[in-house]
Amino acid sequence: MIQLNNVSKSYNGTKKAVDNIDLTINDGEIFGFIGHNGAGKTTTMKMITGIIQPDIGNIKINGVDVVKDPLKSKQQFGYVPDSPDMFLRLTGLEYLNFMADVYDVPVSSRKDKIESLSSRFEMKEALNDKIQSYSHGMRQKIVIMGVLIHEPSVWILDEPMTGLDPKASFTLKQMMREHADNGKTVFFSTHVLEVAEKLCDKVAIINKGKIIFSGTLEELKEHFKTNESLEKIFLEMTENE
Ligand SMILES: Nc1ncnc2c1ncn2[C@@H]1O[C@H](COP(=O)(O)OP(=O)(O)O)[C@@H](O)[C@H]1O
Ligand SMILES: [Mg+2]
Repeated sequence: MIQLNNVSKSYNGTKKAVDNIDLTINDGEIFGFIGHNGAGKTTTMKMITGIIQPDIGNIKINGVDVVKDPLKSKQQFGYVPDSPDMFLRLTGLEYLNFMADVYDVPVSSRKDKIESLSSRFEMKEALNDKIQSYSHGMRQKIVIMGVLIHEPSVWILDEPMTGLDPKASFTLKQMMREHADNGKTVFFSTHVLEVAEKLCDKVAIINKGKIIFSGTLEELKEHFKTNESLEKIFLEMTENE
């Protein structure tokens, strides 16, 4: 579970990148975070993960305050950032072992996890190559695998489908569903509205730093008394703001 209360952030002291948002992402839900480029999605996720701190407000993950108890809060989640270009000089396998070390995954259970993740994401052949040599999609996959190796209860994924081929994207969506169905938390951002519409139990729409809607798609359609697609409603809402 992720809870944000009255959270604001500005980078330069004037315009707020995130403006007084409240959000609750419950266990057992796939929660989609939707907004145009520059709306404040990545900033919100970076505050949840403790990479940057909010100016005001508080954030809890599984009840743990991310500012007051940073280490314990970090043990709760796995985070896939928007750019997977990191640890380029490691091989895929070295990277997975590094992530397993960081999160204290016992050596005895690693092999099976690496085996099953790399077969699910069709990465077996590539594990001994340097991440530098990977395509964008393969880098995205290895980062996702590095997150999943420590089995965090809360998944925070910033535009995770970007650059994935259809098969990998399908696999990831399937895994997100399984994770939520196991009573865990999945919070992901996207600007691909067809994906959000099919996959999410709930969505929040952020526009210019403000949450302008949060709830189920049925609630959204009820609210606007329409049966239009999420895309259409989203475009109309953000235009009128
Ligand atoms: N490091 C930064 N320094 C200054 N401004 C930033 C920085 N990162 C993001 N911003 C600004 O904050 C706003 C929100 O950006 P961001 O959270 O990246 O949006 P999104 O992920 O929804 O595209 C934008 O106006 C962006 O230009
Ligand atoms: Mg972003």
